[in-house]
Amino acid sequence: ICIHVLNGPNLNLLGFREPHIYGKTTLADIERMLKEKAQAEKVDIVFRQTNHEGELVDWIQQAGRDGAGIILNAAAYGHTSIALKDAISGSSAKVIDVHLSNVYAREEFRHKSMIAPVCVGSICGFGANSYLLGFDAILGVMRANSA
Ligand code: DQA
Repeated sequence: ICIHVLNGPNLNLLGFREPHIYGKTTLADIERMLKEKAQAEKVDIVFRQTNHEGELVDWIQQAGRDGAGIILNAAAYGHTSIALKDAISGSSAKVIDVHLSNVYAREEFRHKSMIAPVCVGSICGFGANSYLLGFDAILGVMRANSA
């Protein structure tokens, strides 16, 4: 089993960017926690971040070809991107949609997700823990599929 953790725009600044909303945990901290979990569960994990929409499209396609599952924080693109929605629909990879913040408690424009309908499910509002919950979620889906 292989899991790809894909992160979209501005998440490279996690820990420093609006910490009252996103917390003080950095993306490197999250990567460390996920790697520990992956090791304990004996699964492979790949960790990536980009500020570019098309690069996320490439990575979703690649995860599909590799037979990997995806934990995706598409950040702002999750609210807007038809290209990401199409990439997920067109990929055989199962995707768990994650956000650190509770997007439903924030501005109206964050209440809409372009990608959630084509993901297995969504997790939001638990800070860095959203990723750890996302890990358990995608692992459960992949183990069920390979059983
Ligand atoms: C986010 C929520 C998005 O609305 C926002 O654009 C982000 C981060 C989150 O993880 O809470 O950049 O995806």
